Amino acid sequence: MGRKLDGRSALVSGASRGIGLTIARRLAADGARVMLAARSAAALQAETAGLPGCAFHAADLSLPGAAAEAVDAAVRQFGGLDLLVHSAGATQRGDFLLLDDAAWADGYALKLFGAVRLCRAAWPHLRASGGSAVLIAGVGGRVASADFTIGGSVNAALMNLTKALADRGVADSVRVNAINPGSIRTGRLTGRIDTLARERGLDPEAAARAIAAETGVARFGEPEEIAGVVSFLAGPDASYIQGAILDVDGGWVRAV
Ligand SMILES: NC(=O)c1ccc[n+]([C@@H]2O[C@H](COP(=O)([O-])OP(=O)(O)OC[C@H]3O[C@@H](n4cnc5c(N)ncnc54)[C@H](OP(=O)(O)O)[C@@H]3O)[C@@H](O)[C@H]2O)c1
Repeated sequence: MGRKLDGRSALVSGASRGIGLTIARRLAADGARVMLAARSAAALQAETAGLPGCAFHAADLSLPGAAAEAVDAAVRQFGGLDLLVHSAGATQRGDFLLLDDAAWADGYALKLFGAVRLCRAAWPHLRASGGSAVLIAGVGGRVASADFTIGGSVNAALMNLTKALADRGVADSVRVNAINPGSIRTGRLTGRIDTLARERGLDPEAAARAIAAETGVARFGEPEEIAGVVSFLAGPDASYIQGAILDVDGGWVRAV
């Protein structure tokens, strides 16, 4: 029996680990050929070796020309592009008064300008294929907090960008949607747990429970639970979903 993404090609940023890697694995399991992009060539090479038909492109996507080069690499490899997933992101948390311009510029360069540049470069190819883009933002874009000013504002900007590009996509036959992960168990979350444990003198399990309790969820999410939603958004069952922003957060966001 055919798989739902057989014959499709995808570019996934932030695919050397965490949510992006899990998305790349899921899309490959669904039949897509995937270009995995991130900085760590060794990690990408090791992961891609286990994914038939897939390839990798190592680059710092916060640099101006890098997004277009990643798109070119995918198009050269696969002869076109059906799906773009932007999961690369690294924004610094902390006291607003201590976060300098460099921290803000770094966070925006990768997550927001990375999205803008990837979408701009991929758009003609997605238009040609009637494809789609999925931007990985984060619930911090909806629920502001004092220690997450960079990530929160970047995610809010990504949500607006999603709606704006979806508007254009109506005319161009490109679907654009976003996912807001809640707390998902990746190295990023483990780092946060360790920091809180140090700050409050807790063991890591107690620190993890404290983070879950603060956001009112029963448990943390798994990267597979984000990848499954990307797979749905990329597939035929989501053909009328345009400009959606899906909170995949275990119930964290309660606002309508
Ligand atoms: N985990 C969560 O709880 C959570 C919650 C809400 C939103 N999110 C969002 O989901 C996305 C993925 O998060 P994650 O938890 O999977 O993070 P992660 O485990 O830290 O992975 C981040 C990925 O981005 C890549 N990356 C970082 N800097 C890069 C750069 N300059 N150029 C190219 N690639 C770069 C990393 O690879 P290299 O280091 O090899 O470049 C890695 O593949 C992020 O945008 C994050 O903000 C995550």
